[in-house]
Amino acid sequence: MQRYTKTGFAPHAAGAARGIAAAAVLGLALAGAAFADPVEDTLTIETDDGPLTLTTSAPAPEHLKDAMDTIWSGWHYREDETRDLERDDFDNPGMVFVDRGIDSWNKAQGAKGESCAGCHQGPETMAGLRATLPRVDATSGKLMLMEDYINGCVTERMGLEAWGWTGDKMKDMLALISVQSRGMAVNVAIDGPAAAFWEKGKEIYYTRFGQLEMSCANCHEDNQGMMIRADHLSQGQINGFPAYRLKDAGILSAQQRFVGCVRDTRAETFKAGSDEFKALELYVASRGNGLSVEGVSVRH
Ligand code: HEC
Ligand code: HEC
Repeated sequence: MQRYTKTGFAPHAAGAARGIAAAAVLGLALAGAAFADPVEDTLTIETDDGPLTLTTSAPAPEHLKDAMDTIWSGWHYREDETRDLERDDFDNPGMVFVDRGIDSWNKAQGAKGESCAGCHQGPETMAGLRATLPRVDATSGKLMLMEDYINGCVTERMGLEAWGWTGDKMKDMLALISVQSRGMAVNVAIDGPAAAFWEKGKEIYYTRFGQLEMSCANCHEDNQGMMIRADHLSQGQINGFPAYRLKDAGILSAQQRFVGCVRDTRAETFKAGSDEFKALELYVASRGNGLSVEGVSVRH
């Protein structure tokens, strides 16, 4: 396991101070808050196929080297009990949604009775996909999230109405397909046709939103490790998504998490599935290149 190095997280002083001041005014209680290291721990999951050890911290990808040395899964910032729930699929409440995804996968639900399984065989044929999305589709040149691929089949190949971006059917399927890549290293492409989308996502990541005038980076880069209210601020990685959230007793997609975080800055938020949040998902995913796909993870 990698040792945490303090220098890797040196705050970008001026910007961070402004954000903290604004947050303090609005009662977010970040100012003067305590710093707590990400917990030193190893995540080995008991799965149906035996134990699986995940890479939950790794050297920062090249494009992040100026900002930090080490990337950490959000798992390291959660309490013991929350981390423990992820060590055994039997205890992981998110696995219920994977099971629902299997039922949906096998069900003849197309307009002409098509099923996902009828064309794709078992869900294991999707292994690897979650680790490389979002990506630019070679044919259309569009930036594709998992949701785009799923809805492409639902509408064009099954003749159904599109599934809601953050609806249950969509999230059950995200959970099922993500689990097929569990343990594989996140490896999204940021060059070539992806470069323009990645730059746009990066710009959004560093833009201050809302009354708090805070960017993603103010919290998840400058202040990661700080306690914000009773919450230990992580790096805001999405390798664990979709995540089971104890607070909501349900599955949350990365897009939903973005909506929630922007809302917390009291900003008008972009919608789940908007071009802005798609680009942001590519950029945030790339900050986690090298971590294992962990979803379905458990968070508080
Ligand atoms: C009528 C056949 C058909 C049905 C039914 C169908 N798909 Fe597909 N799907 C395809 C084809 C063809 C592709 C594009 C080629 C490929 O990647 O396999 C595709 C691509 C995909 C991809 C992208 C795969 C990749 O590696 O790029 C995903 C994800 C996907 N489908 C999910 C689903 C899900 C979930 C369902 C059920 C809700 C479903 N599909 C139903 C035929 C189908
Ligand atoms: C005011 C501070 C704040 C801002 C600004 C903020 N977040 Fe968060 N975010 C949090 C808190 C608190 C949590 C829950 C604890 C944690 O995991 O850090 C969280 C959690 C997350 C998570 C879940 C991580 C995990 O492993 O469960 C992601 C992903 C995330 N944020 C992304 C973003 C993105 C992208 C932005 C910018 C659009 C953003 N956040 C802006 C405070 C913030």
